[in-house]
Amino acid sequence: MTDPSATFLLFGATGDLARRMIFPSLYNLLSDGLLPADFLIIGSARSEMSDEAFRAEIDAALKQFLPADRYDADIAASFGAMIQYQSVEAGNADQFAALAERIDGRLERGLSVYLSTPPSLFAPTAQGLADAGLIVPTTRIAMEKPIGKDLASSRVVNDGIGHLFGEDQIFRVDHYLGKETVQNLLALRFGNVMFEPLWNASAIDHVQITVGETVGLEGRVSYYDGVGALRDMVQNHMLQILSIIAMEPPARMDPTSVRDEKVKALRSLRPMTDETVKTHSVRGQYTPGAVSGQIVTGYADELGQPSDTETFVALKAYIDNWRWQGVPFYLRTGKRMPQRQSEIVIQFKPVRHSIFGRDGHGSGLEPNTLVIRLQPEEYIRLQIMSKRPGLEQQVKLDEVTLDVSLTAAFAGQRRRIAYERLILDLLAGNATLFVRRDEVEAQWAWIDSIINGWKEANMKPAAYSSGNWGPSSAIALIERDGASWHD
Ligand code: BG6
Repeated sequence: MTDPSATFLLFGATGDLARRMIFPSLYNLLSDGLLPADFLIIGSARSEMSDEAFRAEIDAALKQFLPADRYDADIAASFGAMIQYQSVEAGNADQFAALAERIDGRLERGLSVYLSTPPSLFAPTAQGLADAGLIVPTTRIAMEKPIGKDLASSRVVNDGIGHLFGEDQIFRVDHYLGKETVQNLLALRFGNVMFEPLWNASAIDHVQITVGETVGLEGRVSYYDGVGALRDMVQNHMLQILSIIAMEPPARMDPTSVRDEKVKALRSLRPMTDETVKTHSVRGQYTPGAVSGQIVTGYADELGQPSDTETFVALKAYIDNWRWQGVPFYLRTGKRMPQRQSEIVIQFKPVRHSIFGRDGHGSGLEPNTLVIRLQPEEYIRLQIMSKRPGLEQQVKLDEVTLDVSLTAAFAGQRRRIAYERLILDLLAGNATLFVRRDEVEAQWAWIDSIINGWKEANMKPAAYSSGNWGPSSAIALIERDGASWHD
């Protein structure tokens, strides 16, 4: 880590992510006194605009996307004063030179570049920066997903950036890593003595990871169609969560130790084949239905034509290493689910021997379950067995819940936007919560095995009515193994 970068340069500055997340996050960092003195933010996009017009746009975005009690006119004015705008089109050397002029004299104090553009612009933008002399050892570059659409194309994107920047200058964003609850998985596993000894195939029956969304296409047709839930959510966010759940304990909380362990777990994912995809994966696409009491249209209607893109995917994955041998990881994610709900369920095995009747029969004995809710609520619940009060001859057991509500435990603390953590770490050069190239490639290698399997097996998405947890085959995927989704 070094002194924080003195300049933040955002490409794609007029886009949705910039308005919803990046500028509100920068504003929050400023209002908490976390930005360096004399900080400069340069927004850049194709359209021509004056600094003033851009500042007004950002101010409007802050008013729209910050909670009303966070917006403070004085802070917003200081924030505006830090912001400049430079119109830049890939390949336009004059515009890159104008950008360099704005940064003149500041480069040695660090420049963090953030690419929130389509990936096809990553390499040309990086080249423009290089030609304008803006890539020096203190320059860092952050980039948003998608990084490719398969392993081969991700290599092209990474090579495009990688021949101009060292890997230690590259910060691949997965915004799930900025979420407190995802980071809290590290605290839960490695900050407590009681979980780690049980965190393996001897004690764990299976793991479930669910990321459910109620939204549909949200006007993202041009991006989403042809991409689908597997590439949009599993390749990145869900596999990052999986890697944190599955990895070996890192020796230290530093970028190399943590990412070395994550990549080992990702590389241990058992590739799927055109045979296993049939039983270990489900694709779905939403049709009209009702979500939260609202009637909604189907995917094909929103798109205006039929499509083979999946908006739901369920998978049964295996991690072929010593720790996880034989433990299925069930993953599912989809749009137009009944609830916005992201959670991890660790289902423990039954006790080795029941003293409460044969196999616990009739006593109510159940295996323990650990539920880690990531959003919208934030809690950790451990279901444990307890004696039901009473004088029955045979002991009766009931599940009771050890319930840690993180929202209540840290009630005085503002829940931060995931991007606040990530931008702060980018400015400071701490890459622990960013995705290394080998992780992205391991993720794609596994995803490619599924996509190839789907192609070979000619698997099309099955229909599910909006407001359901995917097609019925998703229920069968887990129930065949004698388990069920934790809804
Ligand atoms: C994005 C996906 O990466 O994550 C979106 O492209 C998805 O399709 C979003 O809606 C979910 O993020 P969050 O933070 O709302 O769970």
